[in-house]
Amino acid sequence: MRHLLSIEKMAVADMRSVLAASGPMKRQRGRHPLRPLEGQTWAMIFSKSSTRTRVSFEVGLHELGARPLFLNANDIQLGRGEPVRDTARVLGRMVHGVIIRTYAQSEVEEMAALSGIPVINALTDAEHPCQLLADVFTMQERLGSIEGRVVAFAGDGACNVPASWIFAAGKLGFELRIAAPRAYQPDPALVKRAGGNIRVTDDLREAAQGADVLYTDVWVSMGKEDEARERWEALAGYQINASVVARAKPGALVMHCLPAYRGKEIDEATFEAHADTIFAQAENRLHVQKAILEWLVS
Ligand code: CP
Ligand code: NVA
Repeated sequence: MRHLLSIEKMAVADMRSVLAASGPMKRQRGRHPLRPLEGQTWAMIFSKSSTRTRVSFEVGLHELGARPLFLNANDIQLGRGEPVRDTARVLGRMVHGVIIRTYAQSEVEEMAALSGIPVINALTDAEHPCQLLADVFTMQERLGSIEGRVVAFAGDGACNVPASWIFAAGKLGFELRIAAPRAYQPDPALVKRAGGNIRVTDDLREAAQGADVLYTDVWVSMGKEDEARERWEALAGYQINASVVARAKPGALVMHCLPAYRGKEIDEATFEAHADTIFAQAENRLHVQKAILEWLVS
C-alpha cells in the first residue's frame, strides 16, 4: 500500500518517478489515454482552509475518473471528537483513498496505518509534500535540472513548507539556505536528520547571494493567527523585495507557495514581476498531484 505522508519518508526513486510523470500529465491534460482511478471515490478531509490544494485535488480526481468527496472536518463526527482511528476504519470500508489537511502529522500517519487505503498528506503542521513536489517540478521546467542549484528560503523557517524543502535537499542534491531570525529557524535535529547541503542563517542578504531561487511562504501559518503581531515584527527584515532579488543570480526565480500577503513576506512589485512563475507553481499542483494519484494506485 502506497501513501504520500511526507517528503522525509518518500523514497528518492518515488519522487523522481512522480516528477517524471508530471510532464506528460500536464501535456496530456484532457486527453488521458487511461483513467487510472475510474469508478473510485476519494475522501478529502480538510480541517484547515484551502484554495489550491482543494481545487487541484477535486479537479485532478475528476480528470482521472474518481469522484472527490469533500468533507469539512467540522461537518463530520471527527470534528465532534470521533477519533481518527475510527474514522480511518470507516472510510477504509467505503472509499478508495483519503486526502487529509490537518494539524498533527500523527493524524495522517494514523489514517494511513488503519484505513487500509492510500493516504495523501495535503498539509500538516509538519510538512507540505504535495507543494514541494509541484515546486520542484516548476523549478525543473524553468531551470532544467535542480541538481547543484541554490535555493534560498526566507521567512518562517520553522513551518511545514521549509521542512519539506529541508528533506528534499537531502534527497535531490541541491543547496538549501534558510534565512530566518533565530526563533523561526528550523529545529536543528530535523536539519541534521535530513542530511543535505543546508545552511541556516539569520542573514538574508548572505543567503540570497548568487541564489538560483528565492522562495518564501506566509509569515503566519494556519493555526498561528494568535501570533500574527509578533511574527510580523520578528520577520519584518525577511521580506523578498528588489534589494534581495538584486543579490540573487541574474534571472533567478522568485517562488511563493501562496496565499501571498503583499507588504509582508514579499512586496507588491516583486510579486507581480514574478507572477508568471508563482502562478505556474499553483497550476502545477494539479498536474503533479495527478501524477501522485496515479503513482499511489499503480
Ligand atoms: N499552497 C497551498 O497549499 O494553498 P492552499 O492553502 O490554498 O491549498
Ligand atoms: N505555511 C503555510 C502554508 C500554506 C499553504 C500554512 O501552513 O499556512
